[in-house]
Amino acid sequence: MDTDPPLGDDARDRTATREPRDSLLTDGGVATTQAFYTRWARLYDAIARRTPGIGGLRERAAERLAPARGDVVVDMGCGTGANLPYFRERVAPEGRVLGVDFTPGVLAVAHDRLRDVPAVSVVRGDATRPPVDEADAVFASFVSGMLADPAAAVRTWAEIVGPGGRLGLLDLARSTRPVGRPLNDVFRLVVRATSPPGTRSRLDDSPAARLDRRVVAAHRALLECCDDVEHETAALGYARLSVGTVAESRE
Ligand SMILES: C[S@@+](CC[C@H](N)C(=O)[O-])C[C@H]1O[C@@H](n2cnc3c(N)ncnc32)[C@H](O)[C@@H]1O
Repeated sequence: MDTDPPLGDDARDRTATREPRDSLLTDGGVATTQAFYTRWARLYDAIARRTPGIGGLRERAAERLAPARGDVVVDMGCGTGANLPYFRERVAPEGRVLGVDFTPGVLAVAHDRLRDVPAVSVVRGDATRPPVDEADAVFASFVSGMLADPAAAVRTWAEIVGPGGRLGLLDLARSTRPVGRPLNDVFRLVVRATSPPGTRSRLDDSPAARLDRRVVAAHRALLECCDDVEHETAALGYARLSVGTVAESRE
């Protein structure tokens, strides 16, 4: 994998000066979230790449986002980089793929695995204040639910790609489909068990309810700033994919 920021030296410089802000991030705080994902980075990587059906979902998301050959695609909250090869396949050889994440442990795993893949880079940065000013497409999977203000983040990402650019979100939330609803209690327990400490125990707002709310807010924000939005669900309704083309400003 490339270690140079693909979007110019600037990208690294700006990343270095933009420390993640606690106030906009997960309820447990940045440090707790980073420690959690660093500790479980290898396990997360296995889950992110080998869970049955997950590869198909990522492939589908890349197909729907449909970056063109030569495009620059940014994956916000890229984790261990599971999406990056799917985007690279579409933009290669001239295009570039950049993963942004604020957790050093997951970036180290991404770096190890993708170091020899040309035109793919990862950089440490806050997805809510990304170290990138321009891209053709921005994507984020399983990240919306971790952001205190996901709609604001989506609007920021829309500004980065600008009118005509592509925006995509893939998230998990409780199912509203009759076929999936009976398993919502199991989903709720899984969300609680896999949430960083400090986000699990509030009685007034369960992790699953908060996840749902944030996912809905993020996908709604995408709908509001994009034309031609395609939305679909998979995995019994637990996976939600939205993609669209950013519209001219509607103000
Ligand atoms: C559930 S993982 C998803 C990883 C990857 N997108 C995937 O599909 O496997 C969430 C990731 O988002 C990252 N993250 C959460 N909030 C972030 C933020 N504000 N800026 C950058 N990364 C963030 C975490 O460090 C973690 O790696």
